[in-house]
Amino acid sequence: MTRYIISNGSAADAKPTVLKGNISVQGAKNAALPLIAAAVLTGEDVVLSNCPDIADVDNMLKIFSALGGVTERRGDKVKLSLKYLTSGEIESRLAGELRSSLFMLGSVLARTKKAKVAYPGGCDIGLRPIDIHLKALREMGVRIRDRYGYLYCDASEAHGADVTLDYPSVGATENVMLLASGIDGVTVIRNAAREPEIEDLGNFLCKTGARVTGAGTQLIKIEGCSALKGAEYEVMPDRIAAGTYMIAAAVCGGETVLRDMKPEHVFSLIGKLRESGAEVEYNGNSVRVASDGRLKAVGVVETGTYPGFPTDLQAPFSVLAAVSEGSTVIVENIFETRFKHLAELTKMGVSVKVKGRVAVFEGVKSLSAAEVQAMDLRGGAALMIAGLKASGTTVVENGHHIERGYAAPEEVLNALGASVIKV
Ligand code: UD1
Repeated sequence: MTRYIISNGSAADAKPTVLKGNISVQGAKNAALPLIAAAVLTGEDVVLSNCPDIADVDNMLKIFSALGGVTERRGDKVKLSLKYLTSGEIESRLAGELRSSLFMLGSVLARTKKAKVAYPGGCDIGLRPIDIHLKALREMGVRIRDRYGYLYCDASEAHGADVTLDYPSVGATENVMLLASGIDGVTVIRNAAREPEIEDLGNFLCKTGARVTGAGTQLIKIEGCSALKGAEYEVMPDRIAAGTYMIAAAVCGGETVLRDMKPEHVFSLIGKLRESGAEVEYNGNSVRVASDGRLKAVGVVETGTYPGFPTDLQAPFSVLAAVSEGSTVIVENIFETRFKHLAELTKMGVSVKVKGRVAVFEGVKSLSAAEVQAMDLRGGAALMIAGLKASGTTVVENGHHIERGYAAPEEVLNALGASVIKV
């Protein structure tokens, strides 16, 4: 079991970490996962560069291999080849590891017309139903039976369709794009998710020979092709990892420059950081965050679909709310139970009250070190930020959740002057 130990001197010699330096932002988890699924669509080689070295990518590569594929990582490049798809089955052991296994459904169906997929896992942050995915696939002619935790799917009569999503689900938009790209015909997705990772997937699919327009807007049009080609593609920068380190920089104080990112992907966060009193400047592909670590409350933060405030940054931002002078209200609009990290944060001196999807923080001046448990990926990252701010030594248990999405976070933070050990 991985744990992260974050040291800031003894409680008597209280010295919260100040972050200073430059870091490069990793490739995006939430772009890399559907891109690996997209590699199933073609029998030719796909090479993904800037592919983050994280556990979720490893698990997705395992699923790719279980389908008969071969993968090879060299540095940040991953080569994927799936000449012959030997199995259309994704067993529960693999699917249980991550929710993105569900994207494989659209790709596998396009390639073999038949699939058996276990219900997906992922972070325990709410009900996470898959009804929108299934409704859309059914509208495209896929027959789906649900038996004993598995979905049995038949796409022998799948066709392009005009699909309106009940909600702009990121995963459902990607799943439909994948199936639609790999079959002949035209599909239109209305009320599509607009997250930048969707645009990244659309750009990749265009490189393989599908014609995708409107990815990143509410209306996506896909002209599919049953003979897609291989492609080389650079995964976009991870806006959530970038945002997490930007929040850490504001909370701890100091001056941090993040390179290799897209500032426009984190505008909602930049607005909130500036409101809190942190200095944020951006130029080209880099962002500079400077602060004296004394922040003020920002009033209300509500999570929303892109370009709103990302639900994935809600937990990291809650640490900023916890140490800012005054009251902050955080409303979680996307997932029902995404406040589990708050119980752990209270062990470190955070003052917060939660009712349903609303958390109200009364800012405290300092945090104290504690032994805490990561409950999920982003909640775990929040505990690490709190550990940097707390005096004494904080131990974050269940670090495997953090490793799912952050590439060597201890190295990134230590490059900024922190003292974090992974054991
Ligand atoms: C993706 C991201 C995740 C992010 C989330 C919201 C990946 C791998 N994960 O997750 O990091 O937190 O977008 O930006 O890209 N819903 C349904 N039925 C469905 C599908 C979704 O009710 O069939 C609901 C969900 O329960 C949730 C909301 O829609 O309340 C958003 O989910 P969705 O956009 O699908 O998120 P994911 O694709 O799971």
